[in-house]
Amino acid sequence: MAVKLRLLDEDGIYEHLFERYSLLQKHADELKQDLGIVSRSCGDLEVSFEPQPHSHVKEPFNFEISQSLSSLSSSRDNNNSTTGYVVWSTTPFFLQWLLYSRSGAIFGQGGTIEVEGDPFHSTYEMPAIFSSRVVDPADSPDARVTPQHIIVELGAGIAGILCVALANYVDKYVCTDQKALLNGLKRNIKHNIDELRLRNMESSTLDFEISRRTALKTELDVLALDWESFDLKSPNLHALLTPASLSTVCILSMDVVYNEYLIEPFLRTLKKLLQSYRASGHSPFAVLGIQLRDQDVVEIFLSTAVVQFELRVCAIVDPDIEKTRFGLYYITIQ
Ligand SMILES: C[S@@+](CC[C@H](N)C(=O)[O-])C[C@H]1O[C@@H](n2cnc3c(N)ncnc32)[C@H](O)[C@@H]1O
Repeated sequence: MAVKLRLLDEDGIYEHLFERYSLLQKHADELKQDLGIVSRSCGDLEVSFEPQPHSHVKEPFNFEISQSLSSLSSSRDNNNSTTGYVVWSTTPFFLQWLLYSRSGAIFGQGGTIEVEGDPFHSTYEMPAIFSSRVVDPADSPDARVTPQHIIVELGAGIAGILCVALANYVDKYVCTDQKALLNGLKRNIKHNIDELRLRNMESSTLDFEISRRTALKTELDVLALDWESFDLKSPNLHALLTPASLSTVCILSMDVVYNEYLIEPFLRTLKKLLQSYRASGHSPFAVLGIQLRDQDVVEIFLSTAVVQFELRVCAIVDPDIEKTRFGLYYITIQ
């Protein structure tokens, strides 16, 4: 069975969650029952990613991450918002799926995908997350394809795994979280920057740049963005989040749905970003990864997104996802 989308309405949310949580029960013996922290015992950990023969991306990745277990359990650090000090399993799961699975290929490269639950369409044209500039523009000036491809990550945490790996394939990556997390995030990015090998890297927020033997380039920036005080008019945010040329903008967020009180601020931020990109002529969409823990929290999240914020939320239906504790969602504005 190939990957498809299921557009969720209010009733569809309950059916979707009933199915997913029944499968979790069925596979309970094979699935880890922990909260989803990649390592609860090591301050330093290695996380590796290997392509398979059929993978559309051929590069392997290996990260050495420094995380802070003491800050995670501190009641003082970052006003007690400490989940970002460690690496969570949704991130490696999503990266492995996006880069190396057959289903992930359609999200990376774009294409036609079947959709259920939409009375007007049986397929959607998926925008590519990755830039299609596989040809070095120095060799062929015509290879300069517009639009640019940009990723904005919300709630990135300390690890920097997605930004370093995916900056290989996009023209610009803006990695965001609360201010207190950013020094650790910058250290991990710098430590693992050899994994960004396919492009030159420029930055206005990191204290280094890299040059490779290619004319391809990416901009990689790290930015404080708190959903509870988000204001797109703030000059700092505006400069970094607003693309200069016509762009396909993918907003990525992994494991940010775990606390009922964060749902509204997160969705408000997401919707404002999607609307603002759309209003300036860009093509925005979001891909969200959720670790399926408390069913009530996921249900409140999905129904708030669909009913109150009137977002178009599609579950990504894929046998490779169904066997796991994760849910992936494709979100756009009406
Ligand atoms: C469970 S962690 C996931 C981190 C990372 N995405 C991963 O998968 O390892 C949740 C993330 O949301 C961030 N977060 C929580 N509240 C936030 C807020 N109000 N504004 C921005 N980010 C927030 C945390 O700092 C943390 O990085």
